[in-house]
Amino acid sequence: MKKTYLVTGGAGFIGSNFIHYMLQKYQDISIINVDKLTYAGNMENLAEFENDPRHCFVHADICDKDAMKKVMAEHNIDYIVNFAAESHVDRSISNPEIFVQTNVLGTVSLLNCAKQAWQTGEDTFKEGVKYLQVSTDEVYGSLGAEGYFEETTPICPHSPYSSSKASADLFVKAYFDTYKFPVNITRCSNNYGPFQFPEKLIPLIMNNTLQHKELPVYGDGMQVRDWLFVEDHCKAIDMVLNNGRLGEVYNIGGHNERPNIFIVKTIIEYIRQNVDSSVSEDLIHHVTDRKGHDRRYGIDPAKIKAELGWFPETPFEVGIKKTLKWYLDHKDWMAHVTSGSYQEYYKKMYGDQ
Ligand code: NAD
Ligand code: TYD
Repeated sequence: MKKTYLVTGGAGFIGSNFIHYMLQKYQDISIINVDKLTYAGNMENLAEFENDPRHCFVHADICDKDAMKKVMAEHNIDYIVNFAAESHVDRSISNPEIFVQTNVLGTVSLLNCAKQAWQTGEDTFKEGVKYLQVSTDEVYGSLGAEGYFEETTPICPHSPYSSSKASADLFVKAYFDTYKFPVNITRCSNNYGPFQFPEKLIPLIMNNTLQHKELPVYGDGMQVRDWLFVEDHCKAIDMVLNNGRLGEVYNIGGHNERPNIFIVKTIIEYIRQNVDSSVSEDLIHHVTDRKGHDRRYGIDPAKIKAELGWFPETPFEVGIKKTLKWYLDHKDWMAHVTSGSYQEYYKKMYGDQ
């Protein structure tokens, strides 16, 4: 039977990669993509599907109950995948409130709309439907030198961003525990790949190096992130939608821990060898550390591997080269997002919707 997916935040980094992944993998699906188009949402990410009848874009805020009720009423939604979020830790430190608005209140509002649309009786819902909350390993807080985040690790967020994501997770859990509303939560480590907004480490360092600008490394640069190629995240979400046990949390990560300074030096070296032999590590500038900076993230993916057979297909050394090459091949995309002119593209294609 043909499935209909409501993807929120589908014009952002991971959401747009997910839409690419799903429309390439499945011929017979439709995707309703709801996005508010904040600074991080870019319809250029989905240019390939402009005329594809399987992709329908709705310009809306997940907090807008009427708009979301209309979407649920007009489309026979089987799955909701909630990517929509404010996602940048530094922005959450300077302006926490919008993180509560979108990440917490937006999630609760979406849960409520879906519950109303899918409910068939007391504690019963339409057959086969599911709400998947795309969460993050950051809800677990920070690790020391040893150990990994498991699904049973207590939630202990530090930044306003991770606190808002943790709050959202607790509401999703509450909908399962209270109403038996069918949910899954996925908690993934740091993603990298095409279409990432250049406020995040990898595209920012790439862009600055190409322009011989200073490379801001927070503190000593020895903070560790567990990097996963975005396509492997998309594959995991698809598997959890299909076979994840209702009410369960699944951690997603591929044991690719790297200190930030290693990532920065890898990018410089790639550009030095492939583009511009004059760039060097002299561009690195250690700047004041981020407030409350988590020292290390590391995911234990044993549960999703054992239950669903997921494994990461792209080794870091392959994925990072693929990613850096993608940014080099899409200099227009980078120029549009850094100048803000990508918003003009949307107006040209979609008018004032
Ligand atoms: P992103 O910032 O690139 O994209 C977010 C998208 O959500 C944008 O298109 C934006 O326009 C949209 N959006 C924001 N507020 C909205 C609202 N109120 N209504 C509708 N749309 C709205 O983020 P991303 O990196 O693609 O992250 C997607 C999700 O994955 C987030 O929930 C994030 O917490 C989670 N996550 C991200 C990572 C990562 O490494 N980037 C890792 C694990 C989990
Ligand atoms: P980021 O890409 O913002 O992801 P997150 O904070 O969600 O992990 O940052 C990744 C790491 O890189 C994080 O430890 C902060 C660090 N960082 C820098 O050192 N300099 C920068 O300019 C940025 C954006 C991040």
